[in-house]
Formats: sequence, structure tokens, C-alpha cells
Amino acid sequence: MKKRKVLASAAVCCLCAQMLCACGEQEAEKTDKIYVGVACYNQSDTFLGEMLECFKDRMNNFESSDLQAIVTIRDAAGLQRTQNDQVKELIDAGCNVLCVNLVDRADPSEIIDLARDNDVPIIFFNREPVAEDLQQWDQLYYVGADARESGVMQGELAADAIRTDSRIDRNKDGKIQYVVLEGEPGHQDAIIRTEDAVDTLKNEGIRLEKLSYGIANWNRAQAQNRMQQLIGQYQNDIELVLANNDDMALGAIDAYVKLNRTEAGMPVFFGIDGTDVGLKAVRDSKLAGTVYNDKEGQAEAMAKLAAAIVTGEGMDEIKFENEKYIYLPYSKVTKDNVGRYLGEE
Ligand code: GAL
Ligand code: CA
Repeated sequence: MKKRKVLASAAVCCLCAQMLCACGEQEAEKTDKIYVGVACYNQSDTFLGEMLECFKDRMNNFESSDLQAIVTIRDAAGLQRTQNDQVKELIDAGCNVLCVNLVDRADPSEIIDLARDNDVPIIFFNREPVAEDLQQWDQLYYVGADARESGVMQGELAADAIRTDSRIDRNKDGKIQYVVLEGEPGHQDAIIRTEDAVDTLKNEGIRLEKLSYGIANWNRAQAQNRMQQLIGQYQNDIELVLANNDDMALGAIDAYVKLNRTEAGMPVFFGIDGTDVGLKAVRDSKLAGTVYNDKEGQAEAMAKLAAAIVTGEGMDEIKFENEKYIYLPYSKVTKDNVGRYLGEE
């Protein structure tokens, strides 16, 4: 019903515009407002909090005397039902483009239906919907990064460290005893990062012994908890901690600090993201390395795409993979180059 009304009034507008232009040059219809509705799975997530700050910043750059850029962010606090309602509210409030960070990446259908019925394009980000879902409508896009690449890079960083520092193999058995701290089950960045980090280490000729793993949902406090249990179980045997993100690596370090372990009794830790706290931990040699998840690049790509979708300008400058996807590259961060990421060089 609503859609029909919108279509009808759009038709009237078109007719008027055509009549106005009839004697002059045909002018493309100009939009004077980019109104972005952002739906975030959980704003207390460190990486996403930082990424969305960048995004607001980038959207501000589009503001000019004849273009307004508005961003409204809604936090689903981990509930898909809440997010579906929030998307409806954002559409009702008049958003002309949506950026959606799904709670459940396997369950976007209700949101896609809502958006399509109201003709509001969606840019999904960070939590990648399955390919078939992105095919449901031609106004669906994805901005993110390739999970596999981050896993491989983490594995390479760890392999380099193990090769250059013989102290890491503390019990000198020629094998590295390790544990993994994993993000949410079902998230593309959890299982793929773990698999590829471990495979890469093996391919690099590092002999490994897996002691255990813990799921900590990207969260520092949960990781500290899980790590305390693992230390209780394995005592001084753990030589390497691979964490699917920086917050969980830092939570693991918190667990050792709480137990007053000295550096000599600690494993090496690797994260992914390069969050502000993560980078500082690399600078301070607490984290042996991390893999930079390019939040500035992702925010910029999302802002450009949102603006192009709404204004109809600049779309041909955007490079897509498979017509819908934009993946920003990861990069490796160690103490040697961390200054550049901290803006100190
Ligand atoms: C990952 C990131 C995690 C967490 C997660 C949320 O890409 O590395 O720290 O933010 O996304 O979906
Ligand atoms: Ca060992």
C-alpha cells in the first residue's frame, strides 16, 4: 500500500520534472540529503565502535552547501529481533540508504524484504551474509575484509616469531603448545581465522600441539575468564595464544597479569584488528603482533558507496568484486612498524 503511494507520488514528481526540463536540457534528478541508517549488532564491540566513529567522520566530509549528510546509528545489543525492528524504524524515519551489521549473518531475510518493499538499498558490513542472500535483490552490497587473509597473516606473524625466538618453545620439546581464543560461533571471521592461522603455521614448518580452545565472543572479559580456566588446566604448558581478535588476546593477557605471572612464565600472544588498545599493546611488547583490520578503509568505502547510491554519482569509480562486494586488505603489525599505525611516524 505504502509502496504504491510512494510510486504514485514519484510518478507525479517525474512528470513535473519532465515538464520543467522539457524546453531546456534534461537534468538528472538531484538529491540534497544522504540519510544513512546504521544498524549495528553490538556497539560495545571495540572494533565496531572504532569503525563507526570513522564512518561518521567520513560521512561528514560529504556535507556541503547543497548536500546534507545525516547518520543515525542503532545498537541491537546482540538481538536479531531488535535489529529487525530498528531497521523498520530507520526506514520509517526516512533513511535513503541502510548500513547493516547483522546480528545473525544467516538471517537477513526480514531486513531485506523490508528494504526492498520500501526501495531502500542496503550495504551490509563486517558480518558477511551468505552469497545466496546477497543475490535476493540487486540493491544489496557488502563491505568488509577477507577472513582468510587475516588468518594467514596471523599464522605468518607467529611463525616468524617462533623461528626467531627460541625461548617461545619453553619446554624445548621442538613443538609449540598452543590454545586458540575464538570469536562467535558461526561468524566468518572466527572459524576461518582459526583454521588459516593454524594451517599457515604448519605449512611454515612449525610443529604444533593443540592443547585446547575457548570461545569468548570477541570479548575481553570473557576471554580473561576462559584463559583463567585454561591456565588452571594446563599451568605453564601454554606457549602460544592465537586469538581471533585483539580484545580476546588482551583478555588472555589480563588473566596472566591477574595471576601475577612474570614474563618468563607467559606465552606469546597474537591478535587481529589493530584497535587502539591492541596497537598500544604491540608497542609495549605485550602483544607479539596483530593484523590490521582496516577500519578507515572500510569506513571510507562504505561512505563512498552510500553517497554514490543516494546521489547517483560516482558509482562507476567504485571497484566491486562480483558486482556487490568490496573487500579491504589486511596488513601485518609488529613492534617494528606499529608507530606508523599509531600515527607516530
Ligand atoms: C571482526 C573483528 C572483531 C569483531 C567482529 C564483529 O571482524 O575482528 O573484533 O569486531 O568483527 O563482527
Ligand atoms: Ca614446546
